[in-house]
Amino acid sequence: MPKTCSDPAIPSAARNVALAFRTIIEPFKIKSVEPIRSTTREERERHLRAAHYNLFLLPAENVLIDLLTDSGTGAMSSRQWAAMMVGDESYAGSPSFERFRHAVQGIFGYKHVIPTHQGRAAERILFSVMCKKGDVVPNNAHFDTTRANVEFTGAEALDLPTREGLEPSNPGLFKGNMDVAALEGLIGRVGRDRVPLVMLTVTNNAGGGQPVSMENVRAVRAVCRRYDIPLYFDACRFAENAYLIKLRETGYETKTPKAIAQEMFALGDGCTMSAKKDGLANIGGFLCTNDDRLAQQEKDLLILTEGYPTYGGLAGRDLEAIAVGLEEVLDEDYLRYRIVSTAYLGKHIAQAGVPIVQPPGGHAIYIDARAFLPHIPPRQFPGVALAAELYLEGGIRSVEIGTLMFGDAAKMDLVRLAIPRRVYTQSHIDYVIEVVLEVWKRHEQIRGLQLTYEAPFLRHFTARLEPL
Ligand SMILES: Cc1ncc(COP(=O)(O)O)c(C=O)c1O
Repeated sequence: MPKTCSDPAIPSAARNVALAFRTIIEPFKIKSVEPIRSTTREERERHLRAAHYNLFLLPAENVLIDLLTDSGTGAMSSRQWAAMMVGDESYAGSPSFERFRHAVQGIFGYKHVIPTHQGRAAERILFSVMCKKGDVVPNNAHFDTTRANVEFTGAEALDLPTREGLEPSNPGLFKGNMDVAALEGLIGRVGRDRVPLVMLTVTNNAGGGQPVSMENVRAVRAVCRRYDIPLYFDACRFAENAYLIKLRETGYETKTPKAIAQEMFALGDGCTMSAKKDGLANIGGFLCTNDDRLAQQEKDLLILTEGYPTYGGLAGRDLEAIAVGLEEVLDEDYLRYRIVSTAYLGKHIAQAGVPIVQPPGGHAIYIDARAFLPHIPPRQFPGVALAAELYLEGGIRSVEIGTLMFGDAAKMDLVRLAIPRRVYTQSHIDYVIEVVLEVWKRHEQIRGLQLTYEAPFLRHFTARLEPL
């Protein structure tokens, strides 16, 4: 199954910029390898029973292809490893921080750059400083840690997706957009003083890895300016979002992903970032703001729990790896391979009838488990059943995003196949396609599950289940 430029899964703009040859290859060669271990079906049955049918409880060494998450699971380049060796571990004023700050400011453009150990630490500090009980924070779609950190301050985390963003089979190009009319309506209803900031998550993880258009960012910013409300980005997958704008939004075809990212961030007042995604690092994050007063309060809080403001809980070598990663992630060859590889997986399972969230987003393919297993009601966890079956069939680990994770509040039961960055090759993806299609052939025989143990909160991490 060669991946070609004439493949309709590859957006037309990408085909236009493709090279003379039809096959799009991984834009890297491999210098260091890590073995992955095959297991027999009998072994996997045993491992799955021991993990109580919850893939979070599975030791990673029993997994062949790990698509649990794209966070912190990427492969670093030889340039990043080399940069780590020059990492300076001074407590204060490390030159590694200066290189990190320079790299961040070159793309994001904000005045203050505050390093953190990962994205959620940036969120906790931002919301602690800006929010209080009774406030409302609108977002196109909060990620779970973002929501939890907003709610921890007593404020309400409100998702304002567009209608098409909630329709899995709708092939809309910018299903990550915020509903701008709903934002205006909200501010009118609760009053400007209860909305301390507006957030845009690019791309939108909770909503299927879908991008936000520049037009939507401009429209959201116009509302924010009218009411004098700061606009912040949750920038975890900013490079994938920038590349999807290049492919899909009129007027951006010839711009570089870096120029598009710079244009987007110039429309905001700050951001939170998990460098474990589009920082191409295994750990790290940052918080940015243009506001001097807020930055001072944020740095004070940072010192309390993360560390001094020139390292923020990271080693100097981590700061170096992120500085290089931020440059590499905007490389067009890399982004083309990344987006095409994800789309290729989506296209080949969808054309065999597997129901997925359309169109494929940047970092993952989401299978619609309720449509895949219509005979299993949500209370019998169709997403968990499907994820267990993918493991049994081929040793693939995915994650349920549905009734186990969100309880009765789940609007969909999805299985996310998240693609780690620069880790798996074309043949790994072809293998994943084969396994999904094998499971699809016998989907009618798959049974639901019932809970035997659940924790009082965030139950999906530790839940135990058994087949019905
Ligand atoms: C959109 C989004 N925001 C924030 C986070 C939190 O980042 P971290 O895991 O580094 O704390 C994630 C992590 O998956 C995410 O996807």
